[in-house]
Amino acid sequence: MPERLCNDPVLENLWHPVAAIPDVRERGPITTQLLGEKLVISGQAGEEIVVSEVSDVGIDRRLPVRESFGFVWTSLGSPPETLFDIPEFHEPDRWYENSGSFGVHTSAGRVVENFLDLAHFPFVHDGYLGEQPYTEVKEYSVGIDNGEIWATGCEFYQPIAAVSATDGQVTKYSYRLAHPFCPLLYKTSPLDPERFDVIGIFVQPMTEVQTCAHQFLCLLDEANDDATIKRFQAIIFSQDKPILENQVPKRLPLGPRAETPIRADKTSIQYRRWLTELGVSYGVIRDEAQQVAATKEEVR
Ligand SMILES: [Fe+2]
Repeated sequence: MPERLCNDPVLENLWHPVAAIPDVRERGPITTQLLGEKLVISGQAGEEIVVSEVSDVGIDRRLPVRESFGFVWTSLGSPPETLFDIPEFHEPDRWYENSGSFGVHTSAGRVVENFLDLAHFPFVHDGYLGEQPYTEVKEYSVGIDNGEIWATGCEFYQPIAAVSATDGQVTKYSYRLAHPFCPLLYKTSPLDPERFDVIGIFVQPMTEVQTCAHQFLCLLDEANDDATIKRFQAIIFSQDKPILENQVPKRLPLGPRAETPIRADKTSIQYRRWLTELGVSYGVIRDEAQQVAATKEEVR
């Protein structure tokens, strides 16, 4: 598929995650892409972090920068003054980790939708986040609250819900979308049933069909070290990656009849509607005729 220019003011004016701060500090400068534009992120230890848009002839312009939740965020347009907050991130007894940034050859919307999908656990993450025959998705609620999508009351049996789990448990979930490409999930902590672990992915749309999924973990976990948790997250993600990369079309179809809905898809229907209402046009397919053409072209 030829690369399209972005021309999507909604996405251009948003903040997007482009790198984990420690990666820039230790391994910078980092070259990456955002909405089809080439970026360089520099700022080794002690220096200010700078994000520049570059072309073949050199630096075109300096972009706005913010550092939030352990990541560098930037924007190609005029971003809002604030970014959504994650109150748990500021709680002192939590353990915070950027557990890896993974490239995926599909659109950001597809990655987000996979993250929101409870039904795939026993099939894709069998023995970890789900187990056959416990495949039933129980009834849950989805709605928009204060401009954010919330799916609440989700429950699922999980044999190993997190590295800190010592036994299988019925895990309670809520999903939150406060940014089109940054889904968060709140799940019962194996250590404290009254509190929730917060897990997210901050998805960077590099092009329409190439993304980088930055994993975000904010956990109550005293025992496990960095490497063990990173390994667990890498296993889970390596199970998702081939599924994601095989979905066609790669751009997310938004038409109301785009893909047959099943119950577990309540959240994704809400998500697609939300993207439509926001006016997102890059990395998605808004029109049904186009969807048929794109699917045929990719399958060929
Ligand atoms: Fe998954």
